[in-house]
Amino acid sequence: MTGSEAEDYSQPILPGDAPSDYERYINTDALLALQKTSDEWVHRDELLFQVTHQSGELWLKLAWCDGEEATRLIEEGDLRGALRLLRRSILCVRFLVPQLEMLEQMSPWEYQEIRKVLGHGSGFDSPGWNELRRVLPRLGQAFHNARREAGLSLRDLYVQGRDYEQLYQLAEALIELDEQAQLWRMRHYQIVARVIGDSVVGTQGTPVELLGRLVTKTSYPELWEVRNELTALSKASS
Ligand code: HEM
Repeated sequence: MTGSEAEDYSQPILPGDAPSDYERYINTDALLALQKTSDEWVHRDELLFQVTHQSGELWLKLAWCDGEEATRLIEEGDLRGALRLLRRSILCVRFLVPQLEMLEQMSPWEYQEIRKVLGHGSGFDSPGWNELRRVLPRLGQAFHNARREAGLSLRDLYVQGRDYEQLYQLAEALIELDEQAQLWRMRHYQIVARVIGDSVVGTQGTPVELLGRLVTKTSYPELWEVRNELTALSKASS
């Protein structure tokens, strides 16, 4: 390539109207238009509130999409490929937990102004959370089918974990995903109690006490239960 033909890196080459390829590929115009403008705010913390929720939805989208693909891979027998994706799902849910802290930066009194413009908007209608809740049982089913095909009870899988490395790793990835989702629920409950109180009713009529009870909910109770079996087994054999 001669000097005159050298590529001009300052010019965008992707389709679109934005001035740079970064803005075109990331679609920043559309993304940054997704928050209310300052003249629409009832309080300027609406930006903090929307950004925290919207970024949460994006991480949840990646979490459930990778979880769904991991399920398909397990069904195909590709346990290693599934593990690679599950590590990413786990990280997504883990990222959500510290992000919630941003909401504690709002004044609980001033947040009441924002609350008035949320309508019946509630996290129960979070597309990302609901998709994740849809994917988790199928993922668990795929794992248990693979375990049964290997002729293993859950207890045997843990006792003989070294002989069934991938299945063992898969079981641990599932419980980690479950653990992170539970941590999110606990943290979310704390934030809710700190911002609006623990004895009030949510925008969709749910008592906050009920959220408090939901923190004990797990997607894979059998994976938690098998720990009890292992402790009993160890005690019986010693
Ligand atoms: C000040 C901040 C927040 C408050 C006061 C709050 C309040 C609540 C309340 C009261 C509920 C129960 C349902 C209802 O009646 O509305 C709920 C549920 C929920 N919220 Fe929030 N929330 C906050 C932040 C967030 C954030 C940042 C997210 C996600 C990124 C989120 C996601 C959810 C989800 C997924 C549920 C359903 C919980 C479940 O199924 O266990 N919330 N929230």
